[in-house]
Amino acid sequence: MKIATHELRCTDCGARIAGSTVNSIFRCPTCNGLYDVIYPWSALPNGDTPASDSKLPNASALRWLWQERRTSSLAVDQSGVWRFRDLLPIVDDLDHVVTLREGNTPLYDLPRAAASIGVDWVLAKHQGMNPTGSFKDAGMTAAISVARERGFEWVACASTGNTSAAMAAYAARAGMHSIVFIPEGKIAWGKLSQSMDYGAMTIQLRTDFDGCVRVLTELVNRFPIMLLNSVNPYRLEGQKTPAFELVEQLEWQVPEHIIVPGGNLANGSALAKGFSEMHHLGLIPRIPRVSIIQAEGANPLYRTITENGGKELIPVKANTRATAIRIGNPASWRKALRALRTTGGWCEQVSEQEIALAKAEIGAEGIGCEPASAVTLAGLKKLVAQGKIGREERVVLILTGHTLKDSAYTIDYHRGELFTEDETAHLSAADQALHSGLRKPPIVLDPDTDTVFRALESQMKLVHA
Ligand code: F0G
Repeated sequence: MKIATHELRCTDCGARIAGSTVNSIFRCPTCNGLYDVIYPWSALPNGDTPASDSKLPNASALRWLWQERRTSSLAVDQSGVWRFRDLLPIVDDLDHVVTLREGNTPLYDLPRAAASIGVDWVLAKHQGMNPTGSFKDAGMTAAISVARERGFEWVACASTGNTSAAMAAYAARAGMHSIVFIPEGKIAWGKLSQSMDYGAMTIQLRTDFDGCVRVLTELVNRFPIMLLNSVNPYRLEGQKTPAFELVEQLEWQVPEHIIVPGGNLANGSALAKGFSEMHHLGLIPRIPRVSIIQAEGANPLYRTITENGGKELIPVKANTRATAIRIGNPASWRKALRALRTTGGWCEQVSEQEIALAKAEIGAEGIGCEPASAVTLAGLKKLVAQGKIGREERVVLILTGHTLKDSAYTIDYHRGELFTEDETAHLSAADQALHSGLRKPPIVLDPDTDTVFRALESQMKLVHA
């Protein structure tokens, strides 16, 4: 079945090209800018609607259609990305779609976190509940489908782990070959194991993520490989769909705030694009603020905004235990800045201790997430403390990865082995108490009933103290 068409528009100089003519590095040949995918109905850069024959899709018809598809047994309808395909017509033939039934992720409330922060409600949209355990699946189904339609046999990415896991899985489903470049020793084992399991050629480079990107960018110029990093704008078309799903789950109510982690800085802008398009089409009455949180040790956007007002990127040598966002020279920083400005969101940074505490709190709500995702809750605490988010405002945290992605981090935390003594020495007594209330190290005992009984007794006293 044939569906509609699209173009790519350079986010810097505004040049427009046909999607099929884009170069292998997905950058504008004139100004090196990144592209957005645009459609005949997309808003012009000034927010206006194009005059020509570009009739806007009808909002209530879309809502009805998306709801109807929930009952269908077709794979493209069961996908939480392609169910919204009317707003991402990037493949001509739906038979080319490669799907693992991604999306359809739960929206949970976090009542204990809300109470301890002093806000009425905090929700978590858990993108870690995707087929490969991270938000990347929503983007990968989109980009791999385009790669397949364009006849690519090879795909590649540089990754801190989740992109590579997702790419390897979708490439395998499509019968394509995939090449993964990851920084040696700096990604979580769960993610590394996935790319091997899904059959990718996995190359560990003795460098960081930014070094992997450098090598890969040169390679895609020499071989017919489709680049699947988030500079590939088709990824972001998939990654905008959780915005649709989220407001649908809220019965078309719009929360005041969306909070995302920031690494290579594409996801915040993808969600902002989703919200802006819904607003433009009359599906929602306003756009929520999209805020981006970085780890203190990997904070190029935070520094860029606070030190030069967003004029030029200040790259950093990144270091954080939240390895997914250990990125110092993010490709999509301008897009992220645009998302903050158009939605009125903020950029914050959070410390390693704040990340660990927030992760344990999300775990203690029976939900769990990987360390990079927990920056959202840590960032929310700061934004509330600064008075930027009020008690009655509704906040949705985007949890980007599943807790099992990085079990080593979790085990180290609960055993009290995540931080050095120096690192914990400066913690306030109140913070130390919070950490020790959450830590649940395994208790090793002899197999003797009295011993076990005594241990249980003392644990129960602690719980009820
Ligand atoms: N959270 C998780 C779990 C991630 O894996 C990433 C990025 C991010 C947040 C940040 O998203 O880059 O769009 O700002 N991971 C990439 C990867 C870089 O290779 O898996 P971003």
